[in-house]
Amino acid sequence: MIKKFEEKVCIVTGGGQGIGGGIARKFAQQGSKVMIADINDSVAKQNKNTIESLGGIAKTVHTDVSKSQDIENMVNTTISEWGRIDFLIQNAFGVSDDSTQGSAMEVTEEAWDSGISVLTKALFLGAKFAGKYLIETKGSIINISSVHGFLVAPKTLVYEAGKSAVIGMTRQMACDFGPEGVRVNCICPGHIVTENIQEQWNKNPSGLKFFDQQYPLRRTGTPEDIANAVSFLCSEEASFITGHSLVVDGGLTIQIQENLGISLGKYAIENPETEFPF
Ligand SMILES: NC(=O)c1ccc[n+]([C@@H]2O[C@H](COP(=O)([O-])OP(=O)(O)OC[C@H]3O[C@@H](n4cnc5c(N)ncnc54)[C@H](O)[C@@H]3O)[C@@H](O)[C@H]2O)c1
Repeated sequence: MIKKFEEKVCIVTGGGQGIGGGIARKFAQQGSKVMIADINDSVAKQNKNTIESLGGIAKTVHTDVSKSQDIENMVNTTISEWGRIDFLIQNAFGVSDDSTQGSAMEVTEEAWDSGISVLTKALFLGAKFAGKYLIETKGSIINISSVHGFLVAPKTLVYEAGKSAVIGMTRQMACDFGPEGVRVNCICPGHIVTENIQEQWNKNPSGLKFFDQQYPLRRTGTPEDIANAVSFLCSEEASFITGHSLVVDGGLTIQIQENLGISLGKYAIENPETEFPF
């Protein structure tokens, strides 16, 4: 049976674990060769091994998306390995401390610069370096934003500003790349229980249940939920979709806040063992 991405080549930044890990596995399952571009060599290797054990094709390239030369190297390595790029999935984000947390009065200029650089500049550079190869294949770019790109939480200036910018950048890049046959779309995930997040919830299962309760579908998401959406947007079935930000959040953000607040209040009263996450 022909797989839908047979002969295609995909780069996934942050493809070692979490959402990117799930995307890498999904694309490999669908026949694509996958370049896992991650700052963490150990998780990248682990995911490559998983993909290979399932019969897929993957390679790794050490990449810190805060470094321009690493992004250029990620693209050049993919071209020298496989000669083409069909899909660029810009997903990587991580901070080693909580310096990007806080309001405008709390965040330092340095934390703003480094946070915004990974959240936004890395995506511009990915498109810059991979652009000509994506034009050759009439490929797709997928940028990973968040529901935080639409709705904001307190004390998270850098993340909310960065993720909102990703939605705007996606629209803008879709205008420039459209005439060249390249589609640019964005995914805005709700709460996705990755390996790291699951570890935290293991310490507080009632907190996860409380989170699940906030979703009309009564569950938080999985990396596979996001990978399915990315796979759809890269496929021929989505050939007339560009510049779109697809919210994949089990309905979290369609709700009227007051009603949600009341139902969560009731849930907490009825379930006094609930341990709140924040
Ligand atoms: N998990 C969620 O609930 C959620 C919700 C909305 C959006 N997102 C977004 O999805 C993306 C992935 O998040 P996740 O939860 O899967 O994270 P994660 O921490 O589980 O995985 C992130 C991966 O990116 C890699 N990485 C981190 N910094 C990097 C860098 N500078 N260069 C290259 N690789 C780097 C890590 O090594 C890791 O493999 C992020 O853009 C995040 O903002 C996540």
